[in-house]
Amino acid sequence: MRKKFVAGNWKMNKTVAGAIALASELARKIGSDAPPCEIAIAPPFIALDSAREVIKKSPIKLAAQNCHYENDGAYTGEISASMLKAVGCDYVIVGHSERRQYFGETDAIVNKKVKKVLSEGMNAIVCVGETLSEREAGVTEKVVETQVRGALNGVLESEMKSVVIAYEPVWAIGTGKNATPEQAEDVHRFIRQLVASLYSSAVAENLTIQYGGSVKGSNAKDLFAMPNVDGALVGGASLKVDEFYQIIQSAHNFFTTI
Ligand code: PGA
Repeated sequence: MRKKFVAGNWKMNKTVAGAIALASELARKIGSDAPPCEIAIAPPFIALDSAREVIKKSPIKLAAQNCHYENDGAYTGEISASMLKAVGCDYVIVGHSERRQYFGETDAIVNKKVKKVLSEGMNAIVCVGETLSEREAGVTEKVVETQVRGALNGVLESEMKSVVIAYEPVWAIGTGKNATPEQAEDVHRFIRQLVASLYSSAVAENLTIQYGGSVKGSNAKDLFAMPNVDGALVGGASLKVDEFYQIIQSAHNFFTTI
């Protein structure tokens, strides 16, 4: 059975104090009862330690937004996967389109990061997605295929249980224009078929594929109703507790029996 997975990517928002306040409010709202889905929050690096303290008695898991692919050394300004493991992260977001766009992350870099996250025993949330011009040119599947193949190059079948793929069309991120449930479903189905061809149908069936891009309380349910949409990677709406909570609640009664 695939359970939905809702993760909040806080991006470059919140001071440590602000992160503590937001995480506390969310933890209070969720309580300690089993939630309808897996939940994670990804605060900025400097707030990870404090956020972990706040959520430790709740079902919320801790995620980081990025990492470096080396263990340690002279990489000024970087944070390694082992540091994130030590601070209590279960997940690391890798290859977000903002990292690709503003920080020059290539598929090869994303691949190194994915492998490092997995070698540390954490889960990688691998982001893929096409730009508007790529969608308009009809090359969405080609772009997504290249990104998925690139990110997973050399990743073993046994490691795939620790991989989540987030399909995030770049044109939908932070724009208020979410992909329709059908548009998301088409690409999610394509990714699952691709992973089946790269590994096995068992790996593909167990793979969690999140959708990301302007997910809100008002559109989450329709997206989650799609058989291949296994949750959401949420940016802007994860900074508002009520909105994020509504997205989590939208996962009720949706799970895929394999
Ligand atoms: P958004 O961002 O929900 O603000 O569109 C999603 C993301 O970038 O992960």
